[in-house]
Amino acid sequence: MPDWMLYGATGYTGALVAEEAVQRGHRPLLAGRSAEKLRPLAERLGLEWVAVALDDAEGLAQAVSRVRLVYHAAGPFVQTSAAMVRACLKAGAHYLDITGEIPVYQQVFGYDEAARERGIALIPGVGFDVIPSDCLLKYVADQLPDADQLIVALDALGTSERMTGRISAGTANSMLELLAQMGIAARRDGNLTTLPFGYGARRFTFTTGQKAAMPIPWGDLEIGWRTTGIPNITTFLTFPPSAIELFRVTGPLLRGLLQSSGLRGFLRGQISRMLSGPDEGHRQTGRSALYAQVRNPQEETRQAWLETAEGYQFTALAAPLVVERVLDGNLRGAITPALALGADFVLSIPGTRRLDSLPTD
Ligand SMILES: NC(=O)c1ccc[n+]([C@@H]2O[C@H](COP(=O)([O-])OP(=O)(O)OC[C@H]3O[C@@H](n4cnc5c(N)ncnc54)[C@H](OP(=O)(O)O)[C@@H]3O)[C@@H](O)[C@H]2O)c1
Repeated sequence: MPDWMLYGATGYTGALVAEEAVQRGHRPLLAGRSAEKLRPLAERLGLEWVAVALDDAEGLAQAVSRVRLVYHAAGPFVQTSAAMVRACLKAGAHYLDITGEIPVYQQVFGYDEAARERGIALIPGVGFDVIPSDCLLKYVADQLPDADQLIVALDALGTSERMTGRISAGTANSMLELLAQMGIAARRDGNLTTLPFGYGARRFTFTTGQKAAMPIPWGDLEIGWRTTGIPNITTFLTFPPSAIELFRVTGPLLRGLLQSSGLRGFLRGQISRMLSGPDEGHRQTGRSALYAQVRNPQEETRQAWLETAEGYQFTALAAPLVVERVLDGNLRGAITPALALGADFVLSIPGTRRLDSLPTD
């Protein structure tokens, strides 16, 4: 009998997770809303499958009751997460997801007490967003307990080549929904605040070189705050300098335009046509780099760097390891990845290294 369900198995990322899970000897129950898409994948991998829609509450809870854990990979999660969390609570199965959407984190943490009472764990963000950054920021924050400022920077999409070959349609759609809902955000004095597009751009030195980056609403604004309690957090992503300038100039207009559901529908169509996710070659050779720094009121700092496999590859490699840890553990309630798994967990994902300083030459 399968131990866990992979919902959204037919997506770009879901299929990678399914393949990696099988490589590691897992036999997940593949699930999603489309029987037509699930059947060929399940037959190729020799796995059981079940087609059930998220709005079929009874059918979903019944399917979930066959397993001890759900790995939810169907997004945008703002449209899919709540139904799955409720099914997990009803069936008594742990819930993991790979969302990077801040409103979804907030929603999942709203079920903390219900999850404790039911004896299950809810751990959102167990993909590239946010395992590496959450583990890294916990590593540096643990070294400076009175830190009140946190910066996290990511070099994850590449800045010199075409970025369209770097992300999947699902990721782009989720980013679109997030930008429309939140705009660019940062955490100040414990609260999320909106920043102008392109505001606060600066350069960071990563293991991959020196790059320009601008604030974006990465999941650490919510998760990092819950992991460390640090009330001031800014999260940066590298972009080509020309893109940062374009964001800065068009920002006020862009924010207004994204409020239009008609325009978002049009953009979703373009995204589905144009983005198919990184190919195998890029997944195998691409690298992602992260930097985290904490600062306390006395201006003391601690910092560290991380380098990992390409983001989708990292997500797939991490998936069965996270599932094993949760199934073998005794976790209860809504928990951040770093609090659930520990700051060093990231080092167990193949291709990851952490540095306390950068080589000088
Ligand atoms: N945390 C991370 O680092 C990380 C990494 C990768 C991806 N992600 C996130 O994971 C999500 C999926 O990404 P992807 O690359 O796999 O995108 P994708 O290829 O577009 O796949 C989306 C998947 O979600 C399913 N889905 C969407 N809406 C649904 C709904 N209302 N009910 C049931 N199923 C639904 C789709 O089912 P159909 O095939 O039936 O349409 C498909 O299986 C995105 O939100 C992305 O941002 C996060």
